[in-house]
Amino acid sequence: MEVRELAKGIYWVGIRDWNRRLFDGLIPLPYGTTYNAYLVQGKDATALIDSTNPGFEGELRSNIEEILPIKDIDYLVMNHAEPDHANAIPFLLENAPEAKLVLTQQGAKIAGALYHPQADRVMTVKEGDVLDLGGKRLRFIEAPFLHWPETMFTYAEEDKMLFPCDFTGAHTAAGDFAREIPDYEWIAKKYFGEIMMPFAKNGRNAIEKIDKLEIEMICPSHGPMHDDPKWILGLYRNWTAGRTVRKVVVAYISMWGSTEALVKSATSAMLSEGIDVRVYNLAESDVASLAGDLVDADGIVLGAPTVLGQLHPLGLYAAAVVKAFKPPARFGVLLSSYGWGGGAAKQATEILGQTKIQLIGALDINGRPSDADLQKAAELGKLMAGNVKERPEA
Ligand code: FEO
Repeated sequence: MEVRELAKGIYWVGIRDWNRRLFDGLIPLPYGTTYNAYLVQGKDATALIDSTNPGFEGELRSNIEEILPIKDIDYLVMNHAEPDHANAIPFLLENAPEAKLVLTQQGAKIAGALYHPQADRVMTVKEGDVLDLGGKRLRFIEAPFLHWPETMFTYAEEDKMLFPCDFTGAHTAAGDFAREIPDYEWIAKKYFGEIMMPFAKNGRNAIEKIDKLEIEMICPSHGPMHDDPKWILGLYRNWTAGRTVRKVVVAYISMWGSTEALVKSATSAMLSEGIDVRVYNLAESDVASLAGDLVDADGIVLGAPTVLGQLHPLGLYAAAVVKAFKPPARFGVLLSSYGWGGGAAKQATEILGQTKIQLIGALDINGRPSDADLQKAAELGKLMAGNVKERPEA
């Protein structure tokens, strides 16, 4: 078993799930992920921070028992109730019969519905409360909606270690520390786009709180840890601020090439203006990469034809992703085509109209695009480029 002592009396006892390939039934995980759990041993008591995903209870137990018998755990700190970190709560409460489950008031409600702990096993905490394990004091920091309502961070005061659960995490089973993974920033950016981007404001609030702490190590609950906290917090500062660059994400789907021809014309025009354009053919692209590029793109071009009187289902999917993930892009362009009756443009406009993105142009053509249509698409590309160029270069 792999157990790591991160500081005297603080251990990583997590699980590396190299085999997982999908999260939330939506997000591809090419490198798997981890479910990090941390054991903190004080002179008087021991706490386990977070637990594990369904199916890994036995492995978690083995890891814990490299340090101490599982029955000797005194506290289970639940930073977040989602099953990938909390599903082992019933197993742990059963196997550590004296242990108390430590969580926020909101956490108690959600854990009550998901894991049904007995009331006398639950200990609620609030912002600033401290649990003294004997030479190891754990301070709790409420960080709601990062990304569920009950989320909190735990700070080990003496060791200056922060345990923020999903926040600053990444989906990869590789490495102990982020600096060991050359493409870590892109992996983390995709993760941020999928999980944290819709809650950017809450992320900024949390950073403001943790800026007041002295932090030597950040130990999230997915992916490697951070022994250079300033670096990851710097990235999160930019991402949560919604700082965009001269970048446009083009997400499109085409059936017989008409929409694709419009997309190519607009893309070529943007490229010729020096814009960083990232093109995603929705028939083949993964949503994690799309989300990663949406973290700092200033423009979005959605291309999709009408099928059966509606926006093509993959166009609908992309529009729904943009609406749900709330990227900071300021400008949008729609490109669509139809055979005998439209519908795509209207539907896409309705969905994107519910976002903060300003639709600066749309083109909906019948049949194959003429040279004039392609010219119009290029003009929309140039219009997008002109707007995006207000931003500094990436
Ligand atoms: Fe990794 Fe929101 O659980």
